[in-house]
Amino acid sequence: MRSLTILLLLTAVSLPAQQNVSLKYLQYDTDLITPAEYKQRRDSVMAMIGPDAAAVFYAAPERMRNGDVDYLYRQADNFYYLTGFTEPNALLILAPKGVRVKVNDSTTVTTKEVLFVPAKNPDAEAWTGRRFGTEGAMTLLGVQTAVNNDKFRQVFNTVLFSGITVLYAQSVTSDVSGQIRELLAPLTSYIDGQKRRNSKVELRDPNAMVHTMRIIKSKQEIDMLRKATTISVVAHNQAMMSLEPGMFEYEVQALYEYSFQRQGAEYYGYPCINGAAENSVILHYNTNRKRIGPNDIVLSDCAAEYRGYSSDVTRSYPAGGKFTKEQKEIYTIVLNAANAAIAKIGPGVPWSTVTAAADSVIAQGLFSLGIIPEKEGMGFKKYYNHSLGHPVGLNVHDVGQSVLQPGMLYTVEPGIYIPENSPGVDPKYSNIGIRIEDVILVTESGRENLSAGSPREIAEIETLMKKKGIGNQPLK
Ligand code: GLY
Ligand code: MN
Ligand code: MN
Repeated sequence: MRSLTILLLLTAVSLPAQQNVSLKYLQYDTDLITPAEYKQRRDSVMAMIGPDAAAVFYAAPERMRNGDVDYLYRQADNFYYLTGFTEPNALLILAPKGVRVKVNDSTTVTTKEVLFVPAKNPDAEAWTGRRFGTEGAMTLLGVQTAVNNDKFRQVFNTVLFSGITVLYAQSVTSDVSGQIRELLAPLTSYIDGQKRRNSKVELRDPNAMVHTMRIIKSKQEIDMLRKATTISVVAHNQAMMSLEPGMFEYEVQALYEYSFQRQGAEYYGYPCINGAAENSVILHYNTNRKRIGPNDIVLSDCAAEYRGYSSDVTRSYPAGGKFTKEQKEIYTIVLNAANAAIAKIGPGVPWSTVTAAADSVIAQGLFSLGIIPEKEGMGFKKYYNHSLGHPVGLNVHDVGQSVLQPGMLYTVEPGIYIPENSPGVDPKYSNIGIRIEDVILVTESGRENLSAGSPREIAEIETLMKKKGIGNQPLK
């Protein structure tokens, strides 16, 4: 009896230890969204769709850059939101009613969620990296059932014939190419066939439902966005301290990207915008090739993506460390517009109210400088040709709604851009582009500016720029 107990104990201890050997190199980051939260999200989807429906989600396709070189793979936002799974060629079925799945030759289970993953393959993994496989997906991501992706056809057909009345699945569009397109063939032919026959199963968009879930951020998501923003703030401050006339825009870009990765961010949320003078007036300029002149204003719209969550921060600062008179005039209008807008943010406030606060400051300011002939009407939009801001989250331009609620994060990013040869505008304002962009968390009591750690006031920027940053050390 005693020796049997010891034997059982040894068996119980040695199995997980063996598993750990093969799984321990799969995840190095220790601050990922927890499996419990991913499960909660899948449970919410299943509660929303009800027992007579099923939902299918799939991973983003791999995308070719040139020749046999792909772009760095990035998971689709909704797929990542529901699974935390970062590999391509994966699919997810949620079936609240339950579906029978044969997980191996001897075992069949009834399950509500099935993640289909690329099979473990030592030869392929020796080239492109370790795969989670079914065991990794279940153990590390907490998904109820994971099987190899070649089982999708069979499980999908079982679900279709399980008496469901609604299928939540997105049609496979032409930009979905490669292996995931082949894996999705059963879904494609089902949707095509459904159009021909008079099927009783109603097809609905699963993404709209997940988008509503993503509007209010959880505590863990707010932590990620706070971290992405803090990392971005440090990078902006380093850029201000490092900038010297004669540097190239790409050197400023390099400093941001180095700072992001140096602080543990995986990537940038969008290509870094570093436009000096004539390039500061181009909203999403990102070629970043010009040599920066001594009197240029530099508009830097750069932010990190951390664990999939993107911040979005812009600062505009003078190459020589001191704003010219005209740069100061334009900058002050933009700063006042940003402050007026941020002051309006709070729970229950329509976004249109926030927008209107910035609009009136910019219209009044441009009129008082003689840049527009009247402050009424939409004339100011000629020099502020974008909207005030947008939600941030898994996508830099994330999903939102028109009335603010606690747990939403919005950018506030007014700007004024005056291209050379703007008719009727004094040439002294030519090639001044200013944008100030902050990430604002809506709280129960009002708001919190998550990017306040990077200076916005003229005097504070000029003081910071007197310091030396890490970016102007010569490379040897
Ligand atoms: N960085 C893109 C934007 O500000 O919307
Ligand atoms: Mn933005
Ligand atoms: Mn931006």
